[in-house]
Amino acid sequence: MQIVREVDAVKAMRKAWEQPVGLVPTMGYLHQGHVELVRQARASNATVVVSIFVNPTQFGPSEDYGRYPRAFERDCAMLQSAGADVVFAPAPHEMYPPGFSSWVVVEDVTSRFEGAIRPVHFRGVATVCNKLFNIVYPARAYFGQKDAQQVAVIKRMVRDLNMNLEIAVVPTVREPDGLAMSSRNSYLSPEQRAAASVLYRALTAAKALRNQGGHPAEVCSKMEEVVSAESLAVLDYAAVVDPLTFEPVESLDRPCLSVLAVRFGTTRLIDNMRLDE
Ligand code: PAJ
Repeated sequence: MQIVREVDAVKAMRKAWEQPVGLVPTMGYLHQGHVELVRQARASNATVVVSIFVNPTQFGPSEDYGRYPRAFERDCAMLQSAGADVVFAPAPHEMYPPGFSSWVVVEDVTSRFEGAIRPVHFRGVATVCNKLFNIVYPARAYFGQKDAQQVAVIKRMVRDLNMNLEIAVVPTVREPDGLAMSSRNSYLSPEQRAAASVLYRALTAAKALRNQGGHPAEVCSKMEEVVSAESLAVLDYAAVVDPLTFEPVESLDRPCLSVLAVRFGTTRLIDNMRLDE
């Protein structure tokens, strides 16, 4: 497995890569969710590139960029055993040199939920993914369903800008109690960690209600009720949306996704579940 830090070095190498190339963009501090993305990339591509880059431009000024967890050596060991060929781990100035001033702004789907709460977040995500696609030239890029709105934003960008790659979406990998794996789970105290299974409990309760013929408003109230019964949890939002546009839906007889954001102290967790599958 090769570790590369410079954009020019990737460009020089990539002519020799066997095709097709699969790219897994990450911010490191890897867990089994990331490993599953790499595993799926490995199964369908001749060359697997994983990027590890804590992307400063997707964090707001009061967010956790400075304290985002990092464990580069451990990440590389995990990627080696998962079968990655190349790790691209640039420094911030390599991706954002002095004078950097071009951005990819995806409108509409970013105006709600995560985009409303984190105003520059999706501009940073779309821009860095566009840069990674231009550096690596993958045939496929792998994203987790865990970050469903991110998936919607990336799919919209690829469609709108006619980018020549396929976006592969990988189901959410969960802890035994249902908590979606996330690098940010490491911020939780033991009590908060125990309480954090409430996201999954709320989503499964929502799905059960939908299966009994409930309406979107009832499904949302159910999620609010389950979260409010957990004293350490504070609800940011609970909604049922269209998976591509993130517009709230009026009926459940169509593709629909329940989405949830919950705070535990200063830690914010998100999760989602398809209701129509
Ligand atoms: P990061 O949070 O490191 O996640 C990298 C990828 O792993 C994302 O596509 C995310 O959805 C996926 N992932 C995270 N937890 C998962 C889980 N429990 N199951 C399945 N997949 C999971 O998302 C980012 O980084 C960044 O925004 C990035 C796309 C790299 C751009 O900077």
